[in-house]
Amino acid sequence: MNITVTPALHRKNPRPPESDLGFGTYFTDHMFLMDFSRDKGWHHARIEPYGPLSLDPAAQVLHYNQEVFEGTKAYLQPDGGIALFRPDKNIERMNTSAVRLAMPTIEPDDFLEAIKAIVLIDKDWLPISEGTSLYIRPTFISTEASLLVKPSDTYLFYIILSPVGSYYKEGMNPTRIYATDEYVRATRGGAGAVKTSGNYAPTLVAAGEAMSRGYTQVLWLDSAEQKYIEEVGTSNIFFLIEDELVTPPLGGTILPGVTRDSVIQIAKHWKLKIVERPITIDEVIHGTQNGHLKEVFAAGTAAVISPVGTIGYRGKDYIVDEVQIGALSQKLYDEITGIQYGRREDPFGWRIKIA
Ligand code: COI
Repeated sequence: MNITVTPALHRKNPRPPESDLGFGTYFTDHMFLMDFSRDKGWHHARIEPYGPLSLDPAAQVLHYNQEVFEGTKAYLQPDGGIALFRPDKNIERMNTSAVRLAMPTIEPDDFLEAIKAIVLIDKDWLPISEGTSLYIRPTFISTEASLLVKPSDTYLFYIILSPVGSYYKEGMNPTRIYATDEYVRATRGGAGAVKTSGNYAPTLVAAGEAMSRGYTQVLWLDSAEQKYIEEVGTSNIFFLIEDELVTPPLGGTILPGVTRDSVIQIAKHWKLKIVERPITIDEVIHGTQNGHLKEVFAAGTAAVISPVGTIGYRGKDYIVDEVQIGALSQKLYDEITGIQYGRREDPFGWRIKIA
């Protein structure tokens, strides 16, 4: 792939103190872009100064939401180099998402080359403080000006970068999540497993209501019965019940998370009991009462491993592990971030050194 580069002449975007990074509010100086049309295929790969996109007001993405995105990160290494973590999984998922939304796929090697190129051009933006990283947001939108409900004939793929700290203001401190039986996130046969913006906007009201009652996030239940636990919306979820780690199975309604898969593989490697099985909210609530539920944590690229200390359900709060950071949550956090930041062995070959 031939990538043309137009460098930013001066640094335009403000650079915050690393203690104020939060998640996803600061952006680097450049972005990667590439166009698709039915006649030319993918073409015009380029890196340009970060800035507004120009879209026709009739662009299909604005009306019918043919959009998919990804989230992955670049990590500073002890030798001053940079590594990615399992980017192949994000690339594969973006292509799977694209197929589900009738969009073309992107050649995985070109995709990885684009990620490397944009990260390297803005490598000075990689934050250095503990727990920070450079978040990579590949985004893929339909651009044809047409109000017909049909797959677009033209698309734009772009990648932006954001220096980030922790997603939740709680950091590693246990969060409070609310299991709603009023709203649902995804239905069987729908697009719940697709990383598309359309899965997020409908969750905002539920999240806002949960937040106004002091919760960090919503815990989503299945749409048919509001009985089985699905995911947290920004991450997947795990329960340690006695000595068994349990997570809901991928059935098309939850996102197949890269961190989720990493937790499962590490747990197997450690010879822990790990099972993907349906788990009901009743079993979880019961577990908080009879002491069988030892730990709960969310797992995601943005959230990393986030312990959950309180589960709200039907107006009541249920406490997990005395609102502590559980030993297994901490151990998994240390292992995953240890691999990502190059502090630990990488028995799985997940760390991809790019500088
Ligand atoms: C990620 O973990 O990368 C995500 O995309 C979650 C996000 C919606 C903040």
